Amino acid sequence: MPAVARHLYVHLPFCASRCGYCDFVTVVGHADLHGAYVDALLGELELERRLLAPDLESIYLGGGTPTLTAPDELERLLAALPPAREVTVEANPETVTPELAALLSRNRVNRVSIGAQTFNTALLDVLDRRARPEDVRRALHHLRDAGIGNRSLDLIYGIPGQTAADLARDLDEALALEPEHISAYELEAKPGTRFTHAHGTELALQADGLESYIELVVERLTAAGYRWYETANFCRRPDRAGGRDLRARHNLGYWLGHDYLGLGVGAVSTIQNRRWRNAPSLRRYLAAHARGERPDRGLETLSAVERSTERVMLGLRLDEPLSLTGLRDVVDRAALERLAEGGLAVHREGSLTLTPRGRLLGGGVTARLLA
Ligand SMILES: C[S@@+](CC[C@H](N)C(=O)[O-])C[C@H]1O[C@@H](n2cnc3c(N)ncnc32)[C@H](O)[C@@H]1O
Ligand code: SF4
Repeated sequence: MPAVARHLYVHLPFCASRCGYCDFVTVVGHADLHGAYVDALLGELELERRLLAPDLESIYLGGGTPTLTAPDELERLLAALPPAREVTVEANPETVTPELAALLSRNRVNRVSIGAQTFNTALLDVLDRRARPEDVRRALHHLRDAGIGNRSLDLIYGIPGQTAADLARDLDEALALEPEHISAYELEAKPGTRFTHAHGTELALQADGLESYIELVVERLTAAGYRWYETANFCRRPDRAGGRDLRARHNLGYWLGHDYLGLGVGAVSTIQNRRWRNAPSLRRYLAAHARGERPDRGLETLSAVERSTERVMLGLRLDEPLSLTGLRDVVDRAALERLAEGGLAVHREGSLTLTPRGRLLGGGVTARLLA
C-alpha cells in the first residue's frame, strides 16, 4: 500500500482521575507505565511508518490527558515524531505550568487544546472536573508566554443543572480570554453509565434546551468575530487573527474524509477503504509491543457507499460547499430540492452547503438527504 496518510493521531490514555461523563479510552494511575507506553507508541510508529506520507499535515496528541505524561517521556515522544505543519496537544488546565508550556514549545507543538468545559464551579463539580476557572486562565497565559499562538478552549453545554444564563456566562468568560479557537460540545451521556444514573432527570430536562443552547453559542461567538466553520467549532476570523486561517487542520482532515493513522491504545485509523481500531486494553497494547507485534485490533472494510455516506455526514458540518462529485448515488435528489426550497440547503454548481438554519438543525437535515 502506498504512503497515503497525512494526518497522525497519537493517543495518551493516562488521567489523574476519571470524569463521570467521559467515554474515552483512559486509565487512572499507572504512572510507572509512561515510559513503557511511549516505547510501545514508538514501536507502533515504526511498524506503520510506511502508511505515512513524508510531509505530514497534522499530528494530534489526544487523550486521556497527554500533558499528564511524565515530562521526560512526553518530550521523548514529541522529539521522535515526524515533522508536521500543525502539531496539537490536548491539555487539562491544571497540568499547564510554565515548564510544560516551554517543553511543548521547544518540541514544535504549535497548537494546544485546553479542556475548560465550564467556568461555573458547581457545574465543574457535576462533571467531576479537577481544574478550576483560574487554572484555565493561567494555562492560556503560560501557553501564550511560551510562544504557542494557537490555543483552543473546549466548552460543554447541556450540563445537568446548567441554565441558558450559565451558558451565556461561560461564553463571556471564554471570550474574555481571547482564545484563537473554541470548541463547544453538547454533553453526550452514555445510557447505563454512573453519570446517567446520577443525573437522568436533569439530563432529560437539558435535552429540551439543546437547540436554543447551540443557537446561543453560535450567536455569541459569531458576534464576537469567530468563524463558525464546523458544527461545534469556531476560530477567530482571519481579519481578527492577522490573516491566519485558524481552523484545526487535523480535525478538518477527518471532516473532509482524508486518511489518517492512529497510534496507541484504542486508536482508530482509516486508510483508503480500511478502518481499524486498536484494542482498548493498555495491558494488551504493551504485551503486543513486547512481542514485537502490532497491537490487537478490529479491522473493518468500508464499502464505497459507507465512505460516501460518511463524507456527506461530515462534510455538511462545515461552512464550505461540499462537492457532490462521486457522492450523487447517496444523495436523495428530491429531498435535496425540498431542503433547498425550505431554505435549509443551497445546491449550486455541483456542490451543496447547508444554510445556517440547516446547520443548526444538523444531523436531522443530513439524514433526510441521504438516499
Ligand atoms: C479527549 S477529551 C478530553 C481531553 C482532556 N483530558 C480534558 O479532559 O480536558 C476532549 C474533549 O472532548 C469533550 N468531551 C469529552 N467527553 C464528552 C462528552 N461526554 N460529551 C461532550 N463532550 C465531551 C470535552 O470538551 C473534552 O475537552
Ligand atoms: S481528564 Fe479528560 S480524558 Fe480524562 S477522564 Fe476526564 S474528560 Fe476523560
